[in-house]
This record gives sequence, C-alpha cells and structure tokens, in this order.
Amino acid sequence: GVVTLAACGARGAGAAGGDAAGGETFTIKFSHVVTPATPKGQAADKFKEVVEQRSGGRITVEVYPNSELYGDKDELQALQSNSVQMLAPASAKFTTIAPALQVLDLPFLFDSVDDIPAVVSPDSPAGRAIYENEALASNNIKVIGLWDNGLKQLSSNTEMRTPESLAGLSFRIQPSDVLRSQFENWGASSTPMAFSEVYNALQQGVVNGQENPYSNIESQNMHTVQSHITESNHGYIGYVLVINNQFLESLPADLQTIVQESADEASTYNREVAAKLNEEAKATIQQAGTTQILELTPEERKAFKDRVVPSVWQQYADVIGPDLVNDLLAQQN
Ligand code: LMR
Repeated sequence: GVVTLAACGARGAGAAGGDAAGGETFTIKFSHVVTPATPKGQAADKFKEVVEQRSGGRITVEVYPNSELYGDKDELQALQSNSVQMLAPASAKFTTIAPALQVLDLPFLFDSVDDIPAVVSPDSPAGRAIYENEALASNNIKVIGLWDNGLKQLSSNTEMRTPESLAGLSFRIQPSDVLRSQFENWGASSTPMAFSEVYNALQQGVVNGQENPYSNIESQNMHTVQSHITESNHGYIGYVLVINNQFLESLPADLQTIVQESADEASTYNREVAAKLNEEAKATIQQAGTTQILELTPEERKAFKDRVVPSVWQQYADVIGPDLVNDLLAQQN
C-alpha cells in the first residue's frame, strides 16, 4: 500500500511539473444530499482522497454535499447527462427508473445492523439484483458500490408505541411505493418530498413526521422540531454508488481500475463508520434534550412488523422480483 501511494504521488508531482507523460487529467463531480459528517458524506470524502492519491492527481474529485449542486429532484438526470459523474442516492430514489431497487426499502428487511452485510453484499441475491439491474444499465448508469446508513427510526410530535398510534399522522417519505404502502398499512398517510425540504416541512407542520437513521435526523436538526422518536429500526437506508457508464468507459483502463478500487475502499470505510456515526448522532440527540427516544420491546416492534410483513413484501413481489422476495422471506424468522 505505502509503496504504491508513494509512486502515485511522484507521478502526480511530475504531471504538475508539466511532464507530458502524466497524460490527460479528469474531473469527477460527485453530488449528494447529506452533510459531510454523515456515513455517506464521509465515504464520499474518502473516495475523493483515495482516488486522487492512487491516480497521482490524474483524477480530481469534486464533492458537492447538502444538495448544493443537485438534489433529489434533479441529480439522477444530471448523472445521465454527465453534468455530474457520480452519486450515491438511497435505493428509494431510483423508484422511477429502476423500481426493483425498492428491495432495500422493504420494511423489516433487517432485525439488526448486524444482519446488513450478508444481505447487501455484492454476491448476495439482493446485491446481484442491484449490480445487474438492466434498467440502470440501459440508462447508462453503472453500480460500483453499495453503501450503508443503518436503520431508520420514526420521528413525530406524538408518542408512537403502537402502529395504532400512527393513525391519522402524515409522514414525509422518499419517493418509493413500498414506503407509501408501509405507512398506509400503519394507518398513516405519506408525502414524497426531497430530503433538502424535510426540516422546513417538519418545522412548519406540513407533515407530522418522517423516517430516517439517527445520523440524518441529527445532521438536519430534525430532532429540534420533533418531540418523539421511536427506535423502531424498521427499515434500511442503503445507498447505491453509481457512475455515468460512458464517462467511466472513456477513462484510460488503468484509471477505470483505480476508480473501482477506490470505490471498494470507500465502501469498506463506509461500513466501518456507519454504525458508529449513528450511535454518536443518537447520543447527541439525547444530550440536546429536545426529543424523547422510545426504545420498543421486541413484542412492540413485532406489532409494527406484523402489519407490513409479509403483506407489503408480497404486494411488491412482481416489481422487485418474485424469486428474490421469496428468497428474502425464507430468511425471515
Ligand atoms: C432521505 O431522503 O431521507 C435520504 O435518502 C437522504 C440520504 O441520502 O440519506
């Protein structure tokens, strides 16, 4: 590792000094919607660091966090038009172009964060379905990693101990039919909305609540406008790291390899920090004292689960792939 990095550094210095052997240089714009401090923000910054080092400066990565360049409404279009080259949207954001990716939105896909790596590894059935998704390929989008932000919690201004206590509440959701059905089965309504708009919508009471991992709740200050969190761990936020395929293939072969290897390294790093950052965010919320966190008993959590598993899974089996859904259902206890 050290030797390779030193060699790359030397090549970069050569190119900067005007050495023509350094060759053409490339820029990757990487846009995302969360803060740099989150599991996705940290992994994006790690990708930048590694790819710039390994390429000896032949590739520069510009990371644009916080929806500052593109947000949920336009980032996938920007990727396809090569206005940005990389994104890491949550699975739900692909619903319009690749609805099968809603597999990661299935409620209660995981009982604990420890179950995530096996189900979402590149060679698992779910992982393969995402890497080999034909709708993405036909839209010139290539998957080069799967990143993680752990499990979602419910927030609102009401104590939510039972699914019945959600009746009549409205929740912001990512644009996913699976998520709409999840809340419907709990007796709640839902409104799809861009991530950048969630804080204001909560503050102004446009919606009553939302669902996200602690790191997203804390980094958007949602807890300051939500009096209750139920630690339901009911769903997953998984990111699909994607690159404009034409752009990737336009790179010299050695740089294509460096991009993939750097993505792998950033993915490993993401897995290392995701759980820790979510625990830290939970502690910050507890210290802020604005929000009561309710931890459910296994029986209470099961009451939420029984309303949506297997019903929502079966409802979307055709969209996600019946074999994959059956396979995942067989792993449920
Ligand atoms: C959301 O919209 O709630 C999340 O997908 C945001 C993110 O990228 O984590």
